[in-house]
Amino acid sequence: MRIIKTIKALRLCLAGFRRKGKTIGFVPTMGYFHKGHISLMKASKKANDITVVSLFVNPLQFGPREDLAKYPRDFKRDSLMAKEAGVDILFCPSPREMYPGSLLTRISVAEMSQGLCGASRPGHFEGVATVVGKLLNIVQPDVMCLGQKDAQQVAVLKKMVLDLNFPLKLNVVPTVREPDGLAMSSRNVYLSPSERKEAPAIYRALKAARVLILSGELDATKINSKIKKLILEGTSASIEYISCVDPDSLKAVRRIKLPVMVAVAVRFSAARLIDNIVVTRSIGSP
Ligand code: PAF
Repeated sequence: MRIIKTIKALRLCLAGFRRKGKTIGFVPTMGYFHKGHISLMKASKKANDITVVSLFVNPLQFGPREDLAKYPRDFKRDSLMAKEAGVDILFCPSPREMYPGSLLTRISVAEMSQGLCGASRPGHFEGVATVVGKLLNIVQPDVMCLGQKDAQQVAVLKKMVLDLNFPLKLNVVPTVREPDGLAMSSRNVYLSPSERKEAPAIYRALKAARVLILSGELDATKINSKIKKLILEGTSASIEYISCVDPDSLKAVRRIKLPVMVAVAVRFSAARLIDNIVVTRSIGSP
């Protein structure tokens, strides 16, 4: 595995692969790898000759009171895990390399960035879209792999790719969960031991919502109240949002029509966790 820190060196290296007709898969990350990241790397490897993983904690997507300074970082462990997963190139630029001067250009995927997580994280998705837009211009991959756990990020980036004609395919990889159902996230380390025990209630509530929807409950308000009750009963967390939305437009629905995405964000003392399920099929199908 090559570790590359500059845009110039990465472009030079990738030009060589492209000349040989190799396809390039890309996984953008902020590091502190877990099995969710590894499944993205494996998905990229399966479908491409060369896999590039970027590791960059992007200051542009953190609000002034968010966790940029304490965001978990462990470069040594990350590079070992990426190497073991068979990654070909780990691109880890410095903030100066990515943002050398004042940045006057931003990518804003307008109203899709404002609801759900965007409501409490103003500017977050503009920061994500801008850095991913830059990374796509640097790497120019054939395929980009993203995780379904960050569903709003997926929808925003899908629209950006479509609107701005980025010539690539998006591969959305299912959420990887701990054995008790908690969605894997780098921010799970912020949970206290007792909160960690409570956190699987989030996915249990989402699964209960799926059962309700598939047994005929189509009133989104009732679904949302049921999830709220289950999460509040099972945890010490507070709820930031629960919403039944169209999976592509992210518009909230009142009357459920499949497919529907049920998305939640909850806050524990130091951790803000998000999760979602997309309900598409009847009970009993795989
Ligand atoms: O999902 C993440 O880790 C980040 O939002 C991303 C896509 C790498 C952009 O910084």
